Amino acid sequence: MTRVSRRNFLKTGMGLTAASVLSKEKNLFGGVQGSTGNDMCVIASGNGIRATEKAMEIIRQGGDPLDAVIAGVNIVEEDPNDTSVGYGGIPNEEGVVELDASVMYGPTHQAGAVASLRNIKTPSKVAKLVMERSGHVLLVGEGALKFARAHGFKEEDLLTEKAREIWLKWKEAMSDKDYWLSPDEKKIMAELRPYIEHYGTINCLAKNGAGVLAGVTTTSGYAFKIPGRVGDSPIIGAGLYVDNAIGAAGSTGFGEANLRTCGTFQVVQFMGQGFSPEESCLKAMQVVADKARLQPRLLNEDGLPNFGHSFYAVNKKGEYGAAGMWSGHRYAVHDGKENKHKEEAYLYKRK
Ligand code: GLY
Repeated sequence: MTRVSRRNFLKTGMGLTAASVLSKEKNLFGGVQGSTGNDMCVIASGNGIRATEKAMEIIRQGGDPLDAVIAGVNIVEEDPNDTSVGYGGIPNEEGVVELDASVMYGPTHQAGAVASLRNIKTPSKVAKLVMERSGHVLLVGEGALKFARAHGFKEEDLLTEKAREIWLKWKEAMSDKDYWLSPDEKKIMAELRPYIEHYGTINCLAKNGAGVLAGVTTTSGYAFKIPGRVGDSPIIGAGLYVDNAIGAAGSTGFGEANLRTCGTFQVVQFMGQGFSPEESCLKAMQVVADKARLQPRLLNEDGLPNFGHSFYAVNKKGEYGAAGMWSGHRYAVHDGKENKHKEEAYLYKRK
């Protein structure tokens, strides 16, 4: 019989599901981190604690959940210090900020989205207009910008000084075989690592007391991406999905992996089968992990996904949960009583 070492067992993928189940069990022994039902509930990625606060305030005043989550994420889109969303986002490889966003509204099952949108600080608002004032779901690039202009959006340069300096350092340190010179390539590449490996984005989902579900996802996508690259955020069923009869789900993280598995559609389908929001996020994450093992480029030395990803979900009862590929991540939630950060469930424990 051929002996399979632990490392090769994981590398071949044979052990992937087993390893995931073990770490999941460990995590669940630590306490299920989701919730019981809530009349009103807003959940967001960890960078959305101001968004959940704002959205709940609007919902409490009787505002519509879609307007509420958009107003919530606008705070982050307009914040120059958040380098992963909207104004201040890290640009593409040519130094231009390109934004993606989507919205979805449960009661009508309508959706709107924009991708590779330049010069507009709040792509989530444009996505809502695509939903309400066009017969389409997704507008991209120049067409999305013209649509925004037609609706009176102000064009602005989205590249902040901070983001330009980060981009320039990256450009200079990329190669010693071109004419862009870096003062200290190795040191600068180490400084840039958090940006290169950081897949920021904000997702925010809400349910009001009348059972209306809505969601939004918005991002500047990958730092230094190829111009025109579109991630999972504006793709309905990948970055966001809402079914008012079941629940809503959103995602942040490595878009390409999620695009190939339609993760948020899966999360909602799992909730429809009776799994809790947290279990549904874990099950969809398992699919992402299992498919990643078909591409060695996406695996670390232990044969596990070498990228991060998170799913967030709320069901029609107002139960919520979130799960990451790896441990150590938090999400934001306002359950109608308290606005707080909570630990995400996870598939794999970081060493
Ligand atoms: N999840 C964000 C992106 O991949 O662009």
